[in-house]
Order: sequence, then structure tokens, then C-alpha cells
Amino acid sequence: MRFNYGRSYLGRRGAIPLYLPELPLRPGVIEPLGGLTIPGCIRDAGPDSWGQRVVMQHLLGTGARDGDRAVFGPLTHLLRSGSDRIGALDFQEHAHVYVSRDETSAPLEDLIDAADRVGEGRPLPPALDLALLHASSVGGARPKVLLNADGGDVIAKFSSSTDTYAVVKGEFAAMELARRTGLDVASVDLVGVMGRDVLLLKRFDRVPGTQQRRALVSALTILELDELMARYASYADLAQIVRERFTHARASLRELFARITFNILTGNSDDHARNHAAFWDGEWLTLTPAYDICPQARGGGETSQAMMIGADGFRMSQLAGCVKRASTYMLTEREAGELIDHQVEVIKREWDEVCDRGRMTEVERSFFWRRQFLNPYAFEGYSSAPVQSRAGQGLTPG
Ligand SMILES: Nc1ncnc2c1ncn2[C@@H]1O[C@H](COP(=O)(O)OP(=O)(O)OP(=O)(O)O)[C@@H](O)[C@H]1O
Ligand SMILES: [Mg+2]
Repeated sequence: MRFNYGRSYLGRRGAIPLYLPELPLRPGVIEPLGGLTIPGCIRDAGPDSWGQRVVMQHLLGTGARDGDRAVFGPLTHLLRSGSDRIGALDFQEHAHVYVSRDETSAPLEDLIDAADRVGEGRPLPPALDLALLHASSVGGARPKVLLNADGGDVIAKFSSSTDTYAVVKGEFAAMELARRTGLDVASVDLVGVMGRDVLLLKRFDRVPGTQQRRALVSALTILELDELMARYASYADLAQIVRERFTHARASLRELFARITFNILTGNSDDHARNHAAFWDGEWLTLTPAYDICPQARGGGETSQAMMIGADGFRMSQLAGCVKRASTYMLTEREAGELIDHQVEVIKREWDEVCDRGRMTEVERSFFWRRQFLNPYAFEGYSSAPVQSRAGQGLTPG
């Protein structure tokens, strides 16, 4: 897919490049960067597997099969998904006529029912079909809808019939604990609707009280990768870019390191490059609040993170390995250790209270505790920072 700025946009005062280096503000056709088939900043604004499924069902009805997704190229997904998409962009058939695809709404109960129907391949009443389409542009694999609540714009994520454990409650607990450890994280709330857990996330890509949208790009785009190359995504490479191109570079590196160790402490091994993003102002990048910190199902001991933590390719979900690579994030090993110890302390201290707020049953708590949250594997070879350790006792769980 090639891109061409319109002449009127190029002539507009205050126009910014959609993202650099991939789409510099200049006339003429611009090819995607090497190895990509579509500019990353445009791909970021389109649906992922969940939204593609909704678009497909909208276009094909219940006869749609998962394999049909490939029949529609990215242009169909961009042009048919809802306009209220993440970030600042929208996509239209015509250069001179703007037709927003986001007028319809429905009560949350109906939207959840509609999402269930899509998940199960059952037909949708037309009004609900359109209402569900509203959120189809939001990325990710899990079912979700958009709400315009009193307090602002909200993404609602809910449990799906195929969940084998309390995924949504787990995500709530991790997000809430992240905030309590001092991470900058999207605000969350957990509500029950028709016996279902629903996670409400305040959108950070809208300026509250205005119609204004904030431009952002995913780390996948920042790293100049696409989904097929996602396994090469590296926090260490991202850290290098943070040093060069981010506002508040030093603080952002510390935040990034803290997000990595928090992911490890809460069993979120699904920390792929579309689960990190940065605001884009035309010149500089600024880390967005953290989102999608979701403890994952896991088997035995060994686990790895979705992105490499060290420039040497290290990606094991282990704190000791993170501490060894602290300098990549402009931290000393002691600072890294102190940061981790603080996270562990807060998780231990706040766990019960957060579980209460997340309405977790005893069974759910013991499912997560020491499996996703504070899994012993994470602590192997790790001893707490020298200043905080008492007579050589490491803060290992036990
Ligand atoms: N609070 C927020 N404000 C703005 N955009 C957000 C927010 N939370 C998530 N997003 C955007 O929505 C997308 C989907 O959200 P999320 O990653 O939580 O969904 P998911 O279905 O769990 O994803 P995955 O497929 O990674 O499991 C994100 O990639 C991000 O672009
Ligand atoms: Mg995600």
C-alpha cells in the first residue's frame, strides 16, 4: 500500500507528518519502509483479529468463516471499521466528503450480547450489527466495545465464553496493582453486567471534554516491524529509540524497565509490541499510559516475555536477568533492584484489597497467587536490592 499526502493537507498550516521516518511531509507517492507492506502508523489505526471478525460478519453475515478474513485486504478493514478509532486518523472513500461511521450506539447489555453472537457465529439484528461495528477499529484479539460514558470515552473489554479462568478480573487486578506501584497506567474500573465481568478503560487518546483526538503509534511501528516480524521486537531497541526520540527520555526508560519487571511479576507474558504505544506530536514521541497488562495462562516453570529484554536477545521472565541488563534502561543494578523490591512489596501489601475490589472469589485468588502473580520462577537467582535486604534475606516469595 502506497501513501500520498493530499495537496491541501501539505498546504495546511500546522500539518504534521503522520509519522516519521515512514511518512515525511512531502508531495508524491511514498512507499512503505523496507519489509513493510503498509505504513505502520496506518496499520495501527485499523482493526486487529477481533475487529476484523466484526467487519467480516457485517459484510458476509453468519456465513463468514475465520479464513475469510484474508479475503478482505487491509483497505477494506480500514474503510469499513468504525471511525472512532484509536489515535488521530480516520479513513474515507472520498477525499472531499466525510461520512463518519460511528453514530450508532446501544446499551452495554446489548453490545455484550452482540459480541457473544459474533464469537459464536450467530446472526445479529441490524441495529446491533452497526453498534458493534462502532468499536471494530480498536485493535486487539479480545471482544470489546466503545462507550461514551459521562466521565469520557471508554473501552469496555469483557469475558468471553471461551475463557478458562477469570481473565478480566486478572487484568483488572494487574492494572490496579500497576497503578499502586506507581506505574503510569490507563485508569480501570470493573463492573458486572448480566453476570459478566466488564473492564472499563478510560481512553487516553481523547482529550477529555473536547472532540480532540491524540495521535499515537504502537511500539511495533516505532520499531519498524510488522506482525510477521513481531518476534524480533525488543525492549532494548525500544530503549535506544526512547533515548533519541522520546520526551522525558530518562524517566521513560525507568518507566519502561518498571513495566517489564511488573509484567514479569504479574505473569503478563503477552507484552508484544502492539501492547506499547507512544503519543506522536509530529516531532517527538511520549510514552502513553500502560494498557493490556493481562496475566496469562501458564503451565510449568519456564516462561519468556514476548519482547526481548536485553540487546543480547535475553527474554526470560526472570528478574535477575532484568537487573543484569539495567544499564540498557539507564539504571544501576541497585536502582533496578530497589524498583523491583518496591513492586513486590506493593503487590503483597495491596493484593487482598485489590482482589476485594475485583470481586475475586477465594478460588480465583488462589488460582492467580504465586502462579501469575509472584511466580517463583521469576525470582530464581534474584536477591533483593542490598539496601533493603535484611541479613541477606532475598524477597523471594514464600
Ligand atoms: N486506555 C486506552 N486508551 C486508548 N487506547 C487504548 C487503551 N487501551 C487499549 N487501547 C488501544 O486498544 C488496543 C486494544 O486494546 P488491548 O490491547 O487492551 O486489547 P486486547 O484485545 O486485550 O489485545 P491483545 O490482542 O494484545 O490481547 C490497544 O492495542 C491500544 O491501541
Ligand atoms: Mg493488546
